[in-house]
Amino acid sequence: MTSVSDRLVIDLMSGEFYAGDPYPAWEWMRRNEPIYHDRENNIWGVARYADVRALSLDTSTFSNAEGARPKFYPMPMMIDSDAPVHTRRRKLVSAGFTPRSIAAMAEHVRRVCDEVIDGVCERGSCDFVHDVAALLPLIMIADMLGVDVEHRPHMLRWSDDMMRSQGDPDPAAMEGSSIAFQEYSEYMAPVIEERRRTGRVDDVIGILVNAEIDGDRLSDDDLLFETLLILIGGDETTRHVLSGGMLALQQHPDQLAALRADASRMPRAVEEMLRWVSPIQDMNRTVQKDVMIGDVALTEGDQLLLFYPSANRDEDVFENASTFDIDRDPNPHIAFGLGAHFCLGNQLARLELKIMFERLLERLPDLRLDGDGPFPKRPSNFVCGLESLPVVFTPTPKVF
Ligand code: HEM
Repeated sequence: MTSVSDRLVIDLMSGEFYAGDPYPAWEWMRRNEPIYHDRENNIWGVARYADVRALSLDTSTFSNAEGARPKFYPMPMMIDSDAPVHTRRRKLVSAGFTPRSIAAMAEHVRRVCDEVIDGVCERGSCDFVHDVAALLPLIMIADMLGVDVEHRPHMLRWSDDMMRSQGDPDPAAMEGSSIAFQEYSEYMAPVIEERRRTGRVDDVIGILVNAEIDGDRLSDDDLLFETLLILIGGDETTRHVLSGGMLALQQHPDQLAALRADASRMPRAVEEMLRWVSPIQDMNRTVQKDVMIGDVALTEGDQLLLFYPSANRDEDVFENASTFDIDRDPNPHIAFGLGAHFCLGNQLARLELKIMFERLLERLPDLRLDGDGPFPKRPSNFVCGLESLPVVFTPTPKVF
């Protein structure tokens, strides 16, 4: 980020912008240029809550079908489509993600949380990202998809490597991403074939493979990308709220103490962690017809990034928006987006966050940071969060 006269010049495609501290720049945008133009990349950024909201709800003017990632071709998955294709695609899997079916998973989530904590509790220290935060969402989504236990670590590596290519300046990241996609495809081919042969529909892969839409079935390519979206949606996001939420609690000891003193605060605390961390930095929309937003003229084909973390610190909506307040109420954050593409996994993410923090507060009550940081973040223009968070605690016995 450099300053030319009074105007900030920001490379919106650079992962390093998001991994640094983008909040002052977003504040500047909200005040001065809420529909910000990155002239170099010819891409727009939407910084204010009201605009992110309005654009998300107007799907006929601001489309997903040209790609939810900027400057990239659309892939055959629901997030890269508009109605009616989107509606049909989303309906296929949404039954598995209703509030009721997710609530029924609470016991399983609790068990997985305890298994994850068992993996570290006797050691007295761990890397909270690697050993805790990355594992719970991965295990949950791999189980829902129907991935066998021995392939979980591969899933984590593949999704990590694919995500690293989003705005990382290192050319090796792009190469790693292609290799990961290749390996993922090779793993999925026989799995898809098996679900097709057996007609199994007891997991999300089976449901997608055997679903009929208007008499048609999804192609192998469709299946590959749709499952990948669910994998990445599931395991690359929640982990950052676990780690970023833990960091926020540690950096605000009064808030941590309040939560410890009264666990009934947890649901609101989770919402505040979601607002505070907002791991998805943006989604892309493509303008379908010439349109004005305020006094900014946009032309058909223009691409706009919806900045969820910026919207979630908008002072016009959130009082003391830059204060981390676990009792915040109301808290209409849009970390999960809104409208037609509102996050399919929001209930699952909320359940995982609530139970993991409950179990951590109970089982590792004196967990604290090991060092003052800075704690590195992954340079990404898409999903951004901590790569590592060393913590220490008094060793305690396993429960299983
Ligand atoms: C804290 C965790 C999460 C955050 C912050 C998050 C955020 C988001 C956001 C911002 C969107 C785009 C919304 C829009 O364009 O309006 C989205 C879509 C989506 N998310 Fe999540 N997500 C999380 C967890 C999950 C989980 C656990 C899953 C598991 C299945 C998931 C699956 C999806 C899917 C499939 C979509 C595309 C929905 C569509 O296109 O209709 N997400 N998420």
